[in-house]
Amino acid sequence: MKSVKKNILIINGSLGGATGNTSVLIETAKKYLSVHGANIDILHLEENEDDLKTKLTWAHGFIFTSGTYWDSWGSPMQKFLETTTQYEASDLFLYKPASVMISMHSVGGKGVLSRLQGVLNTMGLNIPPMSGFVYSLATHIALTINESQKDFNDDFWSLEDIEIVIHNLMTATQHKHDFKSWPVDSKDPQRRWL
Ligand SMILES: Cc1cc2nc3c(=O)[nH]c(=O)nc-3n(C[C@H](O)[C@H](O)[C@H](O)COP(=O)(O)O)c2cc1C
Repeated sequence: MKSVKKNILIINGSLGGATGNTSVLIETAKKYLSVHGANIDILHLEENEDDLKTKLTWAHGFIFTSGTYWDSWGSPMQKFLETTTQYEASDLFLYKPASVMISMHSVGGKGVLSRLQGVLNTMGLNIPPMSGFVYSLATHIALTINESQKDFNDDFWSLEDIEIVIHNLMTATQHKHDFKSWPVDSKDPQRRWL
């Protein structure tokens, strides 16, 4: 049975935008997404955040990406989270699967991944198993020069692991589940409470 084409929106919250380090993770993901026949759109938040509602509505699934900046995701991603809080638990997010891919130099990226997955899940998105990925300069160097200690390489995330991330994301887009949301106050998330 041929499955319906799925729309995947890649939301890049990195400071480097379309030409940064994180864009290499995005290009690798695009390669694997095309194997699954997905329709792909990319939103580089650093350059453009127009038409968010239309793009979020269009998407059946998401890939959120960012570099690591002082132990956190990029300011464009933070702004996106603040702007889209009004869509928390709405059909724009609820149960749509979301992968997360983070780049960094050396430390902090796994914390960024876990915290971002936690935020996205709380907003209503579905975090599929094995759909989070962190790639560092340290790993990149280790994988390329570490010929004598290849035994350890399986324990590093490698760019090839993005194939697994995409497989699990696309698998999650195929399933319908009758999940429910608790009530949220979506009227005015910015109003004064104190
Ligand atoms: C302001 C700034 C802060 C950074 N902080 C960290 C950090 O805390 N930990 C780390 O491993 N790398 C850090 N980096 C390195 C970036 O995470 C890394 O180069 C990443 O791939 C950048 O992605 P981009 O080029 O897509 O913006 C920092 C880079 C910048 C510019």
